[in-house]
Amino acid sequence: MSSWSDINALYQVYPRSFQDTNGDGTGDINGITQHLDYIATVADAIWLSPLYQSPQKDFGYDISSFVAFAPEYGTMSDFEALVAKAHARGLKVFMDLVPNHTSDQHEWFTQSRSSRNNSKRDWYVWRDPIDGHEPNNWVSMAGGKSWEYDAVTGQYYLHSWLKSQPDLNWQNPAVREAIADIMRFWLTRGVDGFRVDAVWVLAKDPDYRDDELQPGGDAGAYSGYRHTMCRNGEQLGEYIAFMADVANEQGGLLVLEYYSTPEFGDSFPQLYALQSVRKNCTTFFFDPLNWPLTAQAFGDGIAAYIAGLPVGTIPVICFGNHDQPRMVSRYGGEAQARLLAMLEFTLPGVPCVYNGDELGMENGSIPPGQGRDGFGGTGIMAGRDPERTPMQWNGTKNAGFSVGTPWLPVHSQYKTHNAASESDDSVSVLALYRALFTLRAQSVAWGRGTFAVLGYGNNILAYERAFNGATYTVYSNFNDYEHSIELGGTAICSSLLVTGINGATGHYVLAPFESIIVKKGNQQ
Ligand code: NOJ
Ligand code: CA
Repeated sequence: MSSWSDINALYQVYPRSFQDTNGDGTGDINGITQHLDYIATVADAIWLSPLYQSPQKDFGYDISSFVAFAPEYGTMSDFEALVAKAHARGLKVFMDLVPNHTSDQHEWFTQSRSSRNNSKRDWYVWRDPIDGHEPNNWVSMAGGKSWEYDAVTGQYYLHSWLKSQPDLNWQNPAVREAIADIMRFWLTRGVDGFRVDAVWVLAKDPDYRDDELQPGGDAGAYSGYRHTMCRNGEQLGEYIAFMADVANEQGGLLVLEYYSTPEFGDSFPQLYALQSVRKNCTTFFFDPLNWPLTAQAFGDGIAAYIAGLPVGTIPVICFGNHDQPRMVSRYGGEAQARLLAMLEFTLPGVPCVYNGDELGMENGSIPPGQGRDGFGGTGIMAGRDPERTPMQWNGTKNAGFSVGTPWLPVHSQYKTHNAASESDDSVSVLALYRALFTLRAQSVAWGRGTFAVLGYGNNILAYERAFNGATYTVYSNFNDYEHSIELGGTAICSSLLVTGINGATGHYVLAPFESIIVKKGNQQ
């Protein structure tokens, strides 16, 4: 049976943008297989964003069959080859599980909408109009209202995201069993676990009562409401336990996508509650995405989160994904992104690297009319194309992503930031990620060691990791200017990979945003 402590780093592949092998401009399964050796230099597990059959209104998060692949991505035998080759290299494979909704093209929904008496009617959430309007005031995270009127049967259906993504009715045990069967289908084909999409909306108020409008809130915007009804229903823990138990039948692991919300109190207890549900289940730790880039904010925040972690739980630490601006762009530069990579790999938790962040990729600029993301301005995740531009493999046409026309434009920085040139550059961002992954794999102190914040004076964050006689201190300069420190040990890595850092002792001048690892003692 595997456990989260077996994983040193998780790598998120966004398949559509990873590698196109047949010139149609769209990444595919064989493209992932082609780069397994590359992935294995920075991670030992892969999470594949959805490859399933889909009309691609939300690029795979709108699924029309959970057990077949979109033809543009490839076939079951392509996938079986991917899993076999990944496992042969020691890479675990996680699928994306999207239990909250399907595409409106899924056969379950076409049946459900066909008549009020259909056996699948109650697999989705259907309600009568109230005074000719929506059944309640809920708004969608993709923009607009959460209800769509369907003239065929004269009722509204619920969609927490796009109107082409109807919500499944998790109160119906048949729906839960259907999701369990899908999980078993993939576990039987060798996958090691699932990243579970958007779990906060799985359980809702059973009576579908209105959310409360914030004082002065915009009634048309997601941010206008206190979302106490449309999410975090009482049965959420029960539903997570159900999926965790199904995964556990075959030793599978789960990592939940869960964004905390103040309506349910402090953030950390919300995460702890989900992390405590089952041993094979953890959550992403997204909170730092909202913190200012200061040593105090990170020091206090991380110390408090780690101190309260339920015993034995291991969070998955995440500074970027396909819904978030690129690290370099969010934090204002490459030096800052390197500092965050140091934190990600040296904190207690599994680092999750979004493909391209290990190259220092920036947000792409999308020319007018070439945007592809259907999520709109009043939702919570609008305009995600910039972080989805194609992987930058080399300096040739289209960065080596495709010989055809890429589905999104390649970022012009590919000439300087690409896997080929960075592989040959000993101080590149890629070299840093490789060094950090190697370090993590070399010492159990990173996965299992104690954690203590030593201080954050002068805006320099210092924390210590220790295990069995090996002690590491990580110093991170959150200032945009130099600052000198006393090392108290031997430096073994710098986020800037400066020449000569290895073996440095005593007085050391940290460059702006530089982060370094210092080792005390001799044991691993
Ligand atoms: C969260 C996913 O990460 C995002 O990309 C998707 O659009 C929504 N959930 C809906 O599935
Ligand atoms: Ca292709």
